[in-house]
Amino acid sequence: MKIFLDTADLNEIRKAVSWGIIDGVTTNPTLFSKQKGFSFEDLAREILNTVDGPVSLEVVSDLAEDMVKEARNLNKLGDNVVVKIPFGKEGLKAVRALSSEGIKTNVTLVFSPSQALLAAKAGATYVSIFLGRLDDISNEAFKVLADSVEIFRNYDFRTEIIAASIRHPMHVVQAALIGTDIATVPFAVLEKMFKHPLTDVGIERFKKDWEQFLQSAKKD
Ligand code: G3P
Repeated sequence: MKIFLDTADLNEIRKAVSWGIIDGVTTNPTLFSKQKGFSFEDLAREILNTVDGPVSLEVVSDLAEDMVKEARNLNKLGDNVVVKIPFGKEGLKAVRALSSEGIKTNVTLVFSPSQALLAAKAGATYVSIFLGRLDDISNEAFKVLADSVEIFRNYDFRTEIIAASIRHPMHVVQAALIGTDIATVPFAVLEKMFKHPLTDVGIERFKKDWEQFLQSAKKD
């Protein structure tokens, strides 16, 4: 399973990259709005240079024609750009055009298997299915994800599924259990994935026991 980081925060990206477990990054306008003192292009370029893998940058236009123009400009920012396109008729028109130009796309704001299927048909490189936001409205997020994974397998779609809007480590585990290609994870969730109290207790114990061993070796 590939793990992407869902953030536009360079410090978070640098830390996670240094841990050697990040395959890519996803951003959106909300995540960019949290970063102060950068121009969009400067920050996007810095993220693209920091990450050895795909980086999703989102368009903000409404019409397919404008999305395509925006996407072409975003694509010039680096070799690892993936253009994020909101789901919809205009969005899928843009995805089809971009896919024929070889520009990679990530169809975002996908909340149902039928939407995922249409995005794959349009030639999306990735589709992002939002788990947390489905949970928020008491929908069966994992049914949506599992059905989409199954549909893509049935027809060998090359489009990869990203489990997005992840709120806790179990979202990642459940997505992995059904064979989702990718989970895009906020930094705070990634940190939680490391933690287990028994690991901490175990490390402390090994340290103490080793000290004891060294002390007794000195005496002998
Ligand atoms: O990047 C898209 C998605 O992961 C956003 O998640 O937490 O805003 O629902 P959230």
